[in-house]
Amino acid sequence: MIYKMSQTKTNYKEWSKWYDIIYNLIPTNDLDFYKSFMTPKTKQILEMGIGTGRVSLSCLQNKVNWIGVDDSQDMLNVCESNIKTKQPLKGIITLIKDDMKKLDIREKNNTMNNKLHDLVIYPSYSLMNAGTENNQTKALCIGSKHLKKDGLLIFDLHNPNLYKPAEKYSSVVKKILNKQSYEIFSKSEVDYKKRIHKNYLKLKVNDLSVELFSIENFLYIEDVIRITDEIGLEIIDIFGDYHKSQYDENSNEIIFICKKRKFY
Ligand SMILES: C[S@@+](CC[C@H](N)C(=O)[O-])C[C@H]1O[C@@H](n2cnc3c(N)ncnc32)[C@H](O)[C@@H]1O
Repeated sequence: MIYKMSQTKTNYKEWSKWYDIIYNLIPTNDLDFYKSFMTPKTKQILEMGIGTGRVSLSCLQNKVNWIGVDDSQDMLNVCESNIKTKQPLKGIITLIKDDMKKLDIREKNNTMNNKLHDLVIYPSYSLMNAGTENNQTKALCIGSKHLKKDGLLIFDLHNPNLYKPAEKYSSVVKKILNKQSYEIFSKSEVDYKKRIHKNYLKLKVNDLSVELFSIENFLYIEDVIRITDEIGLEIIDIFGDYHKSQYDENSNEIIFICKKRKFY
């Protein structure tokens, strides 16, 4: 597969075919983290970039209305088929194909009944997929617009301090899943000036080799502090991993827990 130098967005059409397998091979430990923010009072959740439903389908043992937004029809198709296989669910998932930078749920539901959300989340670095700093700011503004006064807005980012550019592929994981043998290789590039991280992934499934590419615009912690302040969000916690350890410069993740500032 040849990647165009100008490619500025991850091709989720390609990723949709392999996303769940890759997350099975390299599992993340964020599911209990998101569950921990769901209290009996949590009724409305908005997920920006729902993907294949990885988080929602694991958390929907509770009776909540979960709205999942994604701009990739292919990811939404996989999500829809995953929802069918997981029935019955206690909660309800509504899928909306839209851009997280432009979403207006009132418009989508064709109603003026603007239900705000207890939780607005962007799991698995979905915000970094929104593009430039300006676009990520827009995506956060839209999230805040859909957030209840006392609700929480949560997003995770890569810690750019941990990026390790590598020109050559190296093996990340080798596993047997459902009697098939899988191995993942990766290499990455970082442009610190443009603040772009590119990841090249090679998945070998028996004799088949699949190449996938992803691109993310990264932010530093001080950028996020400035942006959230500008748009009226107050950061109430910054965690460095999904076990809620406090962030420091060597943390694996940067996870922001925000709420609306009082006068917004
Ligand atoms: C890394 S995946 C995360 C999926 C899911 N949240 C999870 O944790 O597994 C990012 C998702 O965001 C979606 N996405 C990227 N840019 C978007 C945008 N501007 N608006 C809505 N969804 C977007 C992609 O299609 C993809 O499904």
